[in-house]
Amino acid sequence: MKTIVITGVTSGIGKALVHHFVKQGNRVFGVARNSERLKTLETDLVRENYKGTFVSVVADLASFKSLQEGVRTIKSHLHAGTLDVLINNAAIVPKQHKITEDGYELQYQVNHLSVVFLTLELIDYLQAARGKVLVTGSDAHKRARFAYDDLQGLKRYHALRSYCRTKLYNVMTTEYLKTHYNLSFYTVHPGRVKTEIGTKDTSRFYAFMWRLFTRKGYLPDETVDTYDWLINQDIKSGYYHQKAPRESLLIASNQKAQKYLFDETHKALTPFLTKP
Ligand SMILES: NC(=O)c1ccc[n+]([C@@H]2O[C@H](COP(=O)([O-])OP(=O)(O)OC[C@H]3O[C@@H](n4cnc5c(N)ncnc54)[C@H](OP(=O)(O)O)[C@@H]3O)[C@@H](O)[C@H]2O)c1
Repeated sequence: MKTIVITGVTSGIGKALVHHFVKQGNRVFGVARNSERLKTLETDLVRENYKGTFVSVVADLASFKSLQEGVRTIKSHLHAGTLDVLINNAAIVPKQHKITEDGYELQYQVNHLSVVFLTLELIDYLQAARGKVLVTGSDAHKRARFAYDDLQGLKRYHALRSYCRTKLYNVMTTEYLKTHYNLSFYTVHPGRVKTEIGTKDTSRFYAFMWRLFTRKGYLPDETVDTYDWLINQDIKSGYYHQKAPRESLLIASNQKAQKYLFDETHKALTPFLTKP
């Protein structure tokens, strides 16, 4: 039995991961922003009568205050002081440019800053269990450009460009953290998956294009095997797709760029971290 924290569990890949790991008998903490959808998920899990347990954690990854609250909830349940697995899965691709209450571009905060925040907040618990950290990334990162002077892409917002950039940051952060902590870190490219991500907070045209683009994609259930394999086998840290290592963009392994990104990220997170 493992203790697993998963973000973005009320739809798509995250929801499929919850069903899979609770069914196996694990204890899963599901982090989500929408309490109604979380209740529906809980009801579904109870109906299935799985072996494992599920703990709901309401937290909005677009708000550090809300995420701090979520972290407190998780920690209050980790009596043994250990956590086996963290899966940072939640992400968004909103069409409109938005700045969060904390002052960051929305995708930068949800898809990147909150990933690092949650990882650092739970790192002691993960280290105590010699645990694993997974991030749902994307090959979309290969279309991104790393700009030292504009990490948030504030000069000109474009939803997809911002998404690709934050997915690049997922790979870079995974690479950086693996050299600084004695833990396994993975980024998973799930492939093209039939989910709702491209239909939320967007135009009807983009939503239509997304449905067209993913109509022959994997079902969310078809992506869980890779996560299961990485969690339960002895696999070296890295970037993976369908149980196989995958090449990432060259800049992702550039140590100078990784350090710059991490230092800037850490600076942004310092006021909010329990142990800066
Ligand atoms: N679908 C694909 O083809 C594809 C391809 C490559 C990578 N990915 C990656 O796969 C991951 C999962 O996406 P998906 O395709 O399964 O899409 P999805 O169904 O939209 O799942 C994303 C999840 O993130 C949650 N979320 C969004 N903003 C949040 C916030 N501020 N606070 C807390 N939770 C938040 C969403 O909650 P709500 O239910 O409330 O919206 C949802 O549960 C993402 O990291 C994405 O980048 C997907």
